[in-house]
Amino acid sequence: MRKLAEAVAPALEAALSGVGVGGEAWADLLGPATVEQHGDLALPCHPLAGVLRRSPKDIADEVASVLAPSLSDVAEVSSVSGFVNMRAKPSWLAAQMMGLLPDDRLGITVERTRTVAVDYSAPNVAKEMHVGHLRSTVIGDAIVRMLGHKGHIVYRENHVGDWGTPFGMLIEHLLDLSEANAAAELSVGDLDGFYKQARVKFNSDETFVARSRNRVVLLQSGDEETLRLWRILVDESMRYFNEVYGMLGVLLTDGDIMGESNYHHLLPVVVERLRAQGMLEESAGAQVVYPGGWVNREGEPMPLIIEKADGAYNYATTDLACIIDRVERLDCDDLLYVVGTPQSQHFKMVFQVAEQAGFMGDAHNAVHVNFGSVMDSDGKILKSREGEVIKLVDLLREATSRAEQAIAEKNPELQGTEREAVARMIGIGSVKYADLSTERSKDYVFDWDRMLAFEGNTSPYLQYAHARICSIFRRSGIERSSARDASITLAQPEEALLARRLVNFAAVTDDTLASYSPHTLCTYLHSLASSFASFYEVCPVIAAGDDATRDSRLALCDLTARTICTGLELLGIDSPERM
Ligand code: ARG
Repeated sequence: MRKLAEAVAPALEAALSGVGVGGEAWADLLGPATVEQHGDLALPCHPLAGVLRRSPKDIADEVASVLAPSLSDVAEVSSVSGFVNMRAKPSWLAAQMMGLLPDDRLGITVERTRTVAVDYSAPNVAKEMHVGHLRSTVIGDAIVRMLGHKGHIVYRENHVGDWGTPFGMLIEHLLDLSEANAAAELSVGDLDGFYKQARVKFNSDETFVARSRNRVVLLQSGDEETLRLWRILVDESMRYFNEVYGMLGVLLTDGDIMGESNYHHLLPVVVERLRAQGMLEESAGAQVVYPGGWVNREGEPMPLIIEKADGAYNYATTDLACIIDRVERLDCDDLLYVVGTPQSQHFKMVFQVAEQAGFMGDAHNAVHVNFGSVMDSDGKILKSREGEVIKLVDLLREATSRAEQAIAEKNPELQGTEREAVARMIGIGSVKYADLSTERSKDYVFDWDRMLAFEGNTSPYLQYAHARICSIFRRSGIERSSARDASITLAQPEEALLARRLVNFAAVTDDTLASYSPHTLCTYLHSLASSFASFYEVCPVIAAGDDATRDSRLALCDLTARTICTGLELLGIDSPERM
């Protein structure tokens, strides 16, 4: 309850200085009440007991008695076993609601203070995008939307894997298939088949290996014909990735592609700068850096390999080049990497070396926004029935067709193109929400029935709450916008509870962004929708006894719908008006 904390701060400061606690020493103590029934905020007086040589209960009693009259318009104050508890008054909450009504941003402030690069999605050319890329795409997109909404400058960086030694083999395979056949195979998304066939030949055919090696050299040296063939691989793969992005409705465009190949020219610069810093060492012919603090299983110090003995650069080298580019060309403050947890050590080492080498300084904030794996219900990594990597387009199509079935059962009146559109919003929304609502560092279980359920912490549940409110307005014959002039009264506890949730939206959004944890926003939206359900159960809206109550409740409905809709939008999920 950040709003309430701000409202009580001056009175609290005065009351505490009255008992001899100066400055803002108390500010860190103030927090949400652990037991919801006790209030919204609590100040434990136990840590003050030592300095003041009084019992916590004694301090809490005195502070509460001074505080109560000065907060009479804001909160109920009580002293319970050494805690000062504060509970927002319905009248104060009502005033907050009326402040939010005309506000399109629902209390979310614009900060415009940071420049942020968000590295996300990053599939690999000529390889199927796997569910890990789906997670990166969905989580990254939500973070990008929230940062943008706060007014920050955001660079979406799709660090596509489009360079490196496998491309020799992939290009030779392309030639074997003929360009046209290869392009056809890739563009329909049979990326995995393509990659595997190339691998099989590479593992069994020596002349193919020799051709592939030779091709890598041609690629690295900028041979035009080789680059043309390479472009076919990249373009056809991107065509497939774009189909997935289109289905997902994410913000990524071709303009956001910053594949590994874009950093090629900076790789020698990385080497030079590391050498100039005296950080580069030779190890078995390779150029490496020892960041310190990392040992392998044998207890030997672990290096970051910068340039291999054959002159090839590494994944880490490209990431160091990326840091130089994002810091120096884009002038970023924050560098976010939405990448799976298995790459944790890679990023820790890369960040460490980048700091040691002065590629970034104290003003820069590099964060590995890591995430866990997607599992099936048996706790194994999600695969298709045949044990293959799941094709994302198939997965997303299935989501939509399952959603369409659910709608056909629940709302048979919805037909034709509208039903299709709503099915897409619900199906895709479900997949995204299931991913976003799990704490990202945890693995999550992909479970169709659970993610598409209309009950529980799911997107259909939130979308349904929103659609229900739209239907209340349709039936009332009252315009949404005119509900915003109402005077709000919170007579019923369910109305006050709903308002208590609504007032928190802006603070929750900020908290979500501070930890790059979309699940925080999801948990909040679910609790908001649940308190709306309780409200609607006991508080008739259209059939309220009098016009003033009806208008007050319609205004609460409007705020709830807008909060759900904005919240879902920040997560990249649509809110249909009927479903
Ligand atoms: N292409 C990589 C993969 O599929 C992810 C790249 C992540 N971004 C980065 N800057 N390293 O694992």
